[in-house]
Order: sequence, then structure tokens, then C-alpha cells
Amino acid sequence: MKLTLEIWRQEGPKAKGGMKTYPVDGIDGDMSFLEMLDVLNEELINKGEIPVEFDHDCREGICGSCDLQINGEPHGPDRMVTTCQLHMRKFKDGDTIIIEPFRAKAFPVIKDLIVDRSAFDRIQQAGGYISVNTSGNTVDANATPIEKEKADESFYAATCIGCGACVAACKNASAMLFTSAKVSQFALLPQGEVEASERVENMVKQMDLEGFGNCTNTGACEIECPKGISLENIARMNREYMSAVSEG
Ligand code: SF4
Ligand code: FES
Repeated sequence: MKLTLEIWRQEGPKAKGGMKTYPVDGIDGDMSFLEMLDVLNEELINKGEIPVEFDHDCREGICGSCDLQINGEPHGPDRMVTTCQLHMRKFKDGDTIIIEPFRAKAFPVIKDLIVDRSAFDRIQQAGGYISVNTSGNTVDANATPIEKEKADESFYAATCIGCGACVAACKNASAMLFTSAKVSQFALLPQGEVEASERVENMVKQMDLEGFGNCTNTGACEIECPKGISLENIARMNREYMSAVSEG
């Protein structure tokens, strides 16, 4: 396949960025999107040019670092996949592909296609944990019975990989889907009940401090989420939050 890539280039956080055009040839439909960018970067390096910076780690849909906006969609045109799992067979010979970083005030561009998503880390650090006494013998995993339905829902919420596609998809750049997944995974379990009020209040407060927008229920986040995190988590977080603030 021959493609034309329109890629956002930006030398640093304060530099003025802009789109640059790069033709690529010899792209196989079985290549992943990141492998296609590897082909481009090899060509640029061979020509003595600076390669395009993009974030990646696992290349298996696990780490959530391959955050690219492809033709206006976070993680591109496929559903339930990250950019590293997106295959080039989703595109046609002769296509022009527009590749940009995730756009949100709380995700500033570091270089080219790489954004700083440490705002998510700070939300997580504000309450996304359970305090346990780790001295003495390890508690048996089955010591606390948990309803299967609750355990499954908690597990599904915990599959959020923190990629940020929900923020990039939202017209308000809201982080409600991410934060609610991180709140829900504990709120659904008895182990999470002890710190429930403190957790939801602190995580929501941090989310607002980071400059994410409000949720207006458009649902774009759920559609673009590569892990299928449900909007039900946002409803659960709102209930948790209302009950925490009414308790005072
Ligand atoms: S909720 Fe989905 S889109 Fe948002 S960070 Fe988690 S995995 Fe990514
Ligand atoms: S590189 Fe880890 S999810 Fe894509």
C-alpha cells in the first residue's frame, strides 16, 4: 500500500507545532499502525531526518501508552482496539491518514505525538487504592465472599488501561469515564467500602484540579474506549459522590 501521512510535528512543549506531509510505500495490511510508523521512522533516520516521536510500550493493548488521534478518532477507525492493535488493513491503498496527539488541556504535548498523561496518575494517587495491613500472614483470597456479579463488574472496570481515549473523544475533554472506572473497581467490592467516601471525593477533586471538563452525557468516551468501559461507571461514581458529600 502507498499512503500519505499528515503528521503533527512539534519540537517541544512550548514550540509551535504544525502538520507535515510524509509519503510511505510498501505498507502491508498485516502491519500494525505502529509498525507502519516504524517504517516511516526508518526512512527518516536513513535520510538524516528527525524521526516522529510517538509513545508505546507493550504493543499488546495492555499498557495504554499508544495514544494517537487517527483521522479524528482516538485509536483510529476500529472498535475495541488500541493504536498498537489497529491493523493497516483498515486502510486502503492511496489513503491519506491524519495523525495527531490526543488533544486536551490536561494532556499537554511533550513532543510530536507524545502527550503528558500524568494527570491520570495524580487522580489515581488521590484515592485509587485500598489501605490494608500487610503485617502477619497473607489473608486468603477467598476469605471475603463476593457476589459473582459484583466481582465481574469490578473486574470489567479494572480493565481500564488509562490510555486517555475517553478524554480525547469528549468534546469537553472530560475524564469522567477513566475516573469512574477507577472508583468503581473498588466501590463494588467490600474491601473498597472502608475508604469509599474519601476515595470518590478526593479523586473527583483531583480530576477537577487537573483541568478536565465536565460530562454532558454525549457517550463518545464509551464508543472510543478500547476496553469497552461502560457509562454505567459514571452513574455509579455520581451516586458514590452524592452519598459521600451528603454524609458530610
Ligand atoms: S476508560 Fe477506556 S478510554 Fe478511558 S482511559 Fe480507560 S481504557 Fe482508556
Ligand atoms: S503500546 Fe501498550 S497498549 Fe498500545
